Amino acid sequence: MDRPARTSLGSPAETEAGTPDLLRHAAELAIGYRSSIPSRRVGPARGVTADDLRAMVGRPLPEAGEEPRAVIDGLVAAVEPGLVTLGSPRYFGFVIGGSVPAALAADWLTSTWDQNANLYVASPAAAVVEEVVGGWLTDLLGLPAGCSVGFTTGTTMAHFTGLAAARHSVLRTVGWDVEEDGLSGAPPIQVIVGADVHSSLVKALRMVGFGRGRAIRIPTDEEGRMRPAELHRVLAELGPGPTIVCAQAGEVNTGAFDPLDKVADAVATRPGAWLHVDGAFGLWAAAAPGLRSRLDGHDRADSWTTDAHKWLNVPYDSGLVFVRDAAAHRAAMGISAAYLPSAEGAERDPIDYVPEMSRRARAFGVYAALRSLGRAGVAEMVERDCAVARRMADGLAAEPGADVLNEVVLNQVLVRFDDDDALTRDVVARVQEDGTAWLGGTVFHGRAAMRISVSNWATTEADGDRSVAAIVRCLADARRARGGSG
Ligand SMILES: Cc1ncc(COP(=O)(O)O)c(C=O)c1O
Repeated sequence: MDRPARTSLGSPAETEAGTPDLLRHAAELAIGYRSSIPSRRVGPARGVTADDLRAMVGRPLPEAGEEPRAVIDGLVAAVEPGLVTLGSPRYFGFVIGGSVPAALAADWLTSTWDQNANLYVASPAAAVVEEVVGGWLTDLLGLPAGCSVGFTTGTTMAHFTGLAAARHSVLRTVGWDVEEDGLSGAPPIQVIVGADVHSSLVKALRMVGFGRGRAIRIPTDEEGRMRPAELHRVLAELGPGPTIVCAQAGEVNTGAFDPLDKVADAVATRPGAWLHVDGAFGLWAAAAPGLRSRLDGHDRADSWTTDAHKWLNVPYDSGLVFVRDAAAHRAAMGISAAYLPSAEGAERDPIDYVPEMSRRARAFGVYAALRSLGRAGVAEMVERDCAVARRMADGLAAEPGADVLNEVVLNQVLVRFDDDDALTRDVVARVQEDGTAWLGGTVFHGRAAMRISVSNWATTEADGDRSVAAIVRCLADARRARGGSG
């Protein structure tokens, strides 16, 4: 005979009775962490290794369940040394935003509500919030009214979605139904990218069936911008056929924008061609009056991607894809099954715009961020980060031996020290170890550089100045360690 399920916690009703206290405790822990962000060391605990973390986290899977509060306290203690303060106003690595308070609070509720944002019927609230937020963002980012919107995990999956819509559209124009017949035997698609394309776009191309090596790479200039004359030349030389061109707004190292108006002119010479724009962080420039002109022509594209978890400062994960031709978007991502409600005459089902079936209701956090910031707040945040980036670039450029390699047109700064790869890498490592700020290294057009990305809602000039002072200190230490003057 089956015995009633029992854990070491007792019955579900007994367990649930302890939940309010557990959640209050977790909230206090979360609030404590959040309050410590401005003063916390930015990197993980000094010297902590993966083996140290394994020793703290690892254990045999318990046979009997453990008391939830002890589990949470144990988790906090075990992971604490391995946490990186990504939300710090002095975290300048990769392109990482923090979280504005309203978005964080909405994210807590999103977990508690535990909605499945797949179908209208599964969560009318999540479906309608997506619709409203999609409209706001289309307007804020200067995209054509009526674009369809998908809420993805990040820009990589947004690319995947936009490129699947592109694949559908360019093959449909030559009479091929890729959703029905696949890519085997399909007319070949010419895919064109800039030489400084982001690796996530190349990954998305691989996932939609275009090999990495098949993409034609258009030469770029010293800032990483696609050269439009080269694009014109390549398009003129290609025989006729389905074509997808991928441009970018915000090169991951320099922040540079492809000249989108000129790129769109070139694409327009090829009827039926599709223009996709990677705007993972750069698309937010459209929301800032002082920066908007960098994106001139972006509204002429067919699909666009960006991240709310980058510059809108919404907690992970939160990506966005916009597609001009909503029918192509739905053709690529739509799904049907006997047990799912039919799309006929129904409300918008989020599932038809993204790769996943079941998914988190990400739009709640985006909604809260946008309402709490307002149009003015988004503009102010983006412009302030760019101003801090310029100030840091100026501060560093004033140091003998420090070269700012890029035009600081957005929030990205590339710096190189003593024109020396090894020294530059050493300074990056020392800054990471120092803990005042965190930033990474890169190689741009063959030269090692320090990469600074200012993307946090709370970063101030003082954070920038403090970080520049730390970098200068580390530079002096690195020179001394090599036996130089420091
Ligand atoms: C220009 C650009 N495109 C795409 C991506 C990938 O975004 P995600 O990590 O959200 O997939 C990034 C991430 O830094 C990026 O900077």
